[in-house]
Amino acid sequence: MKKDIVLSGIRSTGNLHLGNYFGALRNFVRMQDDYDCNFFIADLHALTTNPDPVQLHASVKQILAEYLAAGIDPEKATIFVQSDVPEIPEMYLLLNMHVGIGELMRTTSFKDKARKALGIGPAAEGDDDEAFEKQIIGASTNKRVNAGLLTYPTLMAVDILIQKATLVPVGKDQEQHLELTRRFARRFNSFYGVDLFPEPQNFNFGAAAVKVPGLDGSGKMGKSEGNCIYLVDEPKALRKKVMKAVTDEGPKEPNQPISEPVANLINLLELTGAADLAAQYRAAYADCTVRYGDLKKDLAEAILGITTPIRDRVNDILADEEYLRRVVRQGAERARERAAATLAEVRQVMGLRGF
Ligand code: ADP
Ligand code: TRP
Repeated sequence: MKKDIVLSGIRSTGNLHLGNYFGALRNFVRMQDDYDCNFFIADLHALTTNPDPVQLHASVKQILAEYLAAGIDPEKATIFVQSDVPEIPEMYLLLNMHVGIGELMRTTSFKDKARKALGIGPAAEGDDDEAFEKQIIGASTNKRVNAGLLTYPTLMAVDILIQKATLVPVGKDQEQHLELTRRFARRFNSFYGVDLFPEPQNFNFGAAAVKVPGLDGSGKMGKSEGNCIYLVDEPKALRKKVMKAVTDEGPKEPNQPISEPVANLINLLELTGAADLAAQYRAAYADCTVRYGDLKKDLAEAILGITTPIRDRVNDILADEEYLRRVVRQGAERARERAAATLAEVRQVMGLRGF
């Protein structure tokens, strides 16, 4: 039986954190035995926000080592670097001809990143879109919102469609991008009257997409939020971060709803697999006997149980340059094979037929 094609990637913007692990990487490892898996390092996407060449290269290498340390096996899954597949940028140019500037400008991630580039605060309810658009158009050339940021969803759609992937394991924050990918696939198929691209779906073994919260009481864990627990954090530093997590003043009466920062800690504990402990802390909150010091200690140890084996392997892998080179060379070769076949079909369909 033909296996479903899986594709996912993580941007090379620094070390991987728990959000990346629970939202994406953990599923990469779990899927590799049963699917046709393709995992890559999105260095072209990283360029939209991190153009420093030295950092970019170091970060690609680091993520590659972390993929391998987490247990992705290059004999089972194709591991590649996005910029090693020139078919991707070519198809990105072609697909852009069918993508509207308006729909790209309405994307949440674009709005957030554009605001950052312009140096204005995060989006809020009731923002004036027109004023925002004027700011983008009127931005000085050194505070510009780069065009790559706008077309980020086109590039991501191409990553997926060029491999004809149907399953894309990503965290909740990527669902809007996946929705756009499906829309672009349908649009292309129907414009040319072909059935070239399947519509990809998020995949988390039947469970809802994951959103790992920050430990600062806020929304999500993310690099730009500055609230990350990294897979390679030393135990001492990691424990310190967890002990500093925001909580509340403690439940005042039995069975009151759990406040967001405390619920975040318990949910994170549950994500690590400690479902029983998480249930105990929920019950302790309900009867007002909860002790946050204990909760944090248990959480730190549960996280270390996951990160320690990965951290232990990363440095050895990083030191073996020859191995890393072999992995990405082999990966690029495999990824290019399918990409080239799809690109040839796309060119043909669009009328770029040559003589
Ligand atoms: P970052 O958000 O650190 O810049 P990426 O945007 O490259 O990293 O995300 C890579 C993968 O990690 C995506 O699948 C994304 O959904 C997932 N991810 C990142 N942060 C979180 C989070 N807080 N919760 C769940 N998944 C996350
Ligand atoms: N946009 C994704 C993120 O920020 C990274 C990414 C790029 C990706 N191309 C992809 C994820 C293709 C899945 C499939 O997390």
